[in-house]
Amino acid sequence: MSADSHTETDAPASVDIASVYAEMERDQARSRSRMDKNPRRVIVADDELNQRMALAGVIRRWGYEVETASDGAEALEKYASFPADVVVTDLNMPGMDGKGLLEELQKLPTTPQSIVLTGFGNLETALETVHRLGAFWYLEKPVHPPALEMILERAIEKQRLSSHTVRLERELASRGVLGELTGDSPSMREVFYLLQQVAPTTATVLITGESGTGKELAARTLHQLSKRSAGPFFAINCAAMPESLIESELFGHEKGAFTGAVEKRAGCFELAQGGTLLLDEIGDMPLSTQATLLRVLEESKVRRLGSPREVSLDVRVLAATNRDLREAISSGTFREDLYFRLAVFEVRLPPLRDRRQDIQNLAMNMVTNFNRKHGCRVTEIAPATLSLLEKFDWPGNVRELRNVIERAVILAGEGAITPTHLPRGFAGTSVPAPVVTPSGEQLALEPGMTIAEAERALIEITLRHTGNNRTRAAQILDITPKTLFNKLRAYGAEA
Ligand SMILES: Nc1ncnc2c1ncn2[C@@H]1O[C@H](COP(=O)(O)OP(=O)(O)OP(=O)(O)O)[C@@H](O)[C@H]1O
Ligand SMILES: [Mg+2]
Repeated sequence: MSADSHTETDAPASVDIASVYAEMERDQARSRSRMDKNPRRVIVADDELNQRMALAGVIRRWGYEVETASDGAEALEKYASFPADVVVTDLNMPGMDGKGLLEELQKLPTTPQSIVLTGFGNLETALETVHRLGAFWYLEKPVHPPALEMILERAIEKQRLSSHTVRLERELASRGVLGELTGDSPSMREVFYLLQQVAPTTATVLITGESGTGKELAARTLHQLSKRSAGPFFAINCAAMPESLIESELFGHEKGAFTGAVEKRAGCFELAQGGTLLLDEIGDMPLSTQATLLRVLEESKVRRLGSPREVSLDVRVLAATNRDLREAISSGTFREDLYFRLAVFEVRLPPLRDRRQDIQNLAMNMVTNFNRKHGCRVTEIAPATLSLLEKFDWPGNVRELRNVIERAVILAGEGAITPTHLPRGFAGTSVPAPVVTPSGEQLALEPGMTIAEAERALIEITLRHTGNNRTRAAQILDITPKTLFNKLRAYGAEA
């Protein structure tokens, strides 16, 4: 039979039946293999009963557990007790439509993947749901089951991977690491918990804490853990700029908006579209800018200086400060309404002196990083050094610890960091009082000195005691004058 002569009617009826059976068998096999693993859950939302039932039936046959909803609100309600991996939703529904549903799902701590079904000619809205609302995919109606099956499988896989990532993050956090943050103390565990809880939401977060406690790092970590991690992260330091510049940096400007505005420029808000903006040192923001900022936050719209046009914003805002904003409100330098707008959720980073048990891990991680940066081979922090590090009060917090460790790694180069590699007098009040000789001279011995340094100090004070008489000094020290001479020459003090 030639290809041309092959028509529909030529095909024997038995072939169709066989292929139907084969398809049914494949369905059952797929269904069995899915049932063997954790059953996966799907919610189908469509206002048309027939459509909804048909879809639910097909998806059930593939081995998924399915719930149905006739609009967005019902789907949300179902999701509360039936946390689905994927929501398959129609776009146009009375009441809460598909877009509304996706927006609400985005606000939840865990968001399922979503597949959007669109009628003919609704492509633009469908694309918007994918780009702006993070839908996994869209399919045009009438739905072609094999296409839906493949996309559903992929969406499930994506959801499985993302919940796996969340689990891994939780596990790491329980071992004292969250993003780049290290900390195993109860107070840092609490910080990790708060950051993990608030990250997937859209809430504005105020991060407070003394200088160097890791506010910026916490903000970056929050962004990485959020659903916006693929978008940009922008930080602007509100304290480092003259008042005249800050508004143009934040909101952007048009060409000629003010003297010096030679080019039009987008501000940080626009640059952070789809991502996260950290308003750092918010406590130092000028009052006039605070008023504009409040308006931008409330309206989710920004207008460049000198422009009549407003741009809608999709930016998660974080703010950080080492100031006590309540005090600033009382003294009239910070707007109370802005405070309440920003401090929807507050995360306070504890000072390092209140979490001394974190010092060892922090310091060892820093050693690893600085070994890499400076090509050093430091292997440990000597117990005496660690005990000094743990006693210190760290007014500059983790940043100060970082500086001390970087210097120590460079000085040590390899092996152990001993107290000699710490800045002199670093241990503050924990340094024992100097030894006072009978003649009233102070021998500056302190932990951190090497034996050679102590020996030199002893030789120097003995020489002062003998009025620089070396023979007498050698006698007192019980060494030969030649040994004394050699030691002095080694110190470069011979002359
Ligand atoms: N928990 C932490 N784990 C690891 N490194 C940290 C931690 N906290 C802070 N650091 C490090 O300490 C330094 C200071 O952190 P960061 O800049 O985030 O502090 P900050 O609170 O924003 O300080 P400032 O108020 O002075 O702006 C950075 O090098 C950061 O990497
Ligand atoms: Mg900072």
